Amino acid sequence: MTDRELMELAVEARKRAYAPYSGFRVGAALLSKSGKTYTGCNIENAAYTPTNCAERTAVFKAVSEGERDFAAIAIVGGKGDEPNEFCAPCGVCRQVLAEFCDGNLRLLLGAPENIRAYTLAELLPCSFGKSDLH
Ligand code: THU
Repeated sequence: MTDRELMELAVEARKRAYAPYSGFRVGAALLSKSGKTYTGCNIENAAYTPTNCAERTAVFKAVSEGERDFAAIAIVGGKGDEPNEFCAPCGVCRQVLAEFCDGNLRLLLGAPENIRAYTLAELLPCSFGKSDLH
């Protein structure tokens, strides 16, 4: 699975976004270390607070299927028809990713033809995690 292929899966997932309130549609594609992929989209709610981001949809789908080891996640978002805006994951999603992934997780942001790659350590430095509770 190339970075570009993972991005394309995120673009497909974005088409299923349910975002009638913000109009901001996000897609995510999560790659497990075993090579499986799990996609997600944002799912909004009339009460706003129950809204779920695309990244967490993908993580929760994967974890509920027994997967906990991840190598990369591609994220695309924007208001336009084509997801060509840069969309960074929100802080809550970074924290959820940190629960299951170490700092080496790769985050692929942008669009298929313009991918910017980061690590989770870069996007969530000095994080609070399970080791803090021991
Ligand atoms: N959103 C995501 O799906 N992921 C992010 O990391 C940022 C925000 C969604 C939530 C909401 O449905 C819309 O984008 C506007 O905030």
